Amino acid sequence: MKRDFLALQDFTPDEILLLLELTKKIKAGKKATKPVLKGKSIGLLFQKSSNRTRVSFEVGIYQLGGNCIYLGPKEIKIGEREAVSDVSNTLSRYLDGIVARTYTHQTVVDLAKYAKIPVINGLSDLTHPCQALTDIFTIKEHFGTLKNKTVAYVGDGNNVCNSLLIGCSKIGIDMNVATPKGYEVATDIVDNAKKNAKKSGAKLLFTLLPEEAVKGADVIYTDTWVSMGQEDETKERLKVFQSFQVNKNLMKLAQKNCVFMHCLPAHRGQEVTDEIMDGSNSIIFDQAENRLHTQKAIMTFLFK
Ligand code: CP
Ligand code: NVA
Repeated sequence: MKRDFLALQDFTPDEILLLLELTKKIKAGKKATKPVLKGKSIGLLFQKSSNRTRVSFEVGIYQLGGNCIYLGPKEIKIGEREAVSDVSNTLSRYLDGIVARTYTHQTVVDLAKYAKIPVINGLSDLTHPCQALTDIFTIKEHFGTLKNKTVAYVGDGNNVCNSLLIGCSKIGIDMNVATPKGYEVATDIVDNAKKNAKKSGAKLLFTLLPEEAVKGADVIYTDTWVSMGQEDETKERLKVFQSFQVNKNLMKLAQKNCVFMHCLPAHRGQEVTDEIMDGSNSIIFDQAENRLHTQKAIMTFLFK
């Protein structure tokens, strides 16, 4: 039976921990040469722009011995030129796997439903699981442990926040989420996170106050205030999110050795200041690098 990588909610805590271990080995070079993709072709089916996801997947596929075909927004026009099911069935006859970046989450779910090959979610409007797994790996790498660590997410209750919340709650990392009113995490994601937390022991806090979320935090995480597909809402969002900027004053309220994280791309001067982005506590480029190692672990797991 093929396995997809659509959301961390579909994976057990043990599987997530295994992926983190595998990432560590791959980054250390111990498993880097196992060519699990030798003779295989993976399609990158992207409806949206990308730097990190596209490049790290292309490089990772190459390093695992595979061939990559990039299918950008102008190529397949999924659901527009052809039904999702027809795209999925056709690509399953050529490819061995698909990495999809879609507008609606349902598109990636439907792709996986009809595909006979593994589908990896490279970001949808609801989730970004490759990012969250990378983020948790990066936190563990930085601190040497995940025990007694608190992650504070400040900003939009969006795809990046959703996946981080699911990942943390699954494996027992405490997480505080501060969003403006009307931009909270979706109810079903919160419900799943609460169920996960009951099992893992993770403590979760949801607040409208950034200052409350960052109190005692080991990590402050933020993301853009305007995600891809929300460009029409830019004016309103820039107003609403003003007091959610991660800056020196906010960082001061967290633990002394608190690190700053961002999935990137960042909008300097909006959700975060240059000073924090470029400061000594910023681990944003470790995060960006770790996308490569984590995704190689995901592909090794799915294509073993
Ligand atoms: N973080 C992330 O997914 O970056 P890209 O949008 O550049 O791929
Ligand atoms: N929330 C952002 C993440 C980009 C990696 C977006 O969806 O545009």
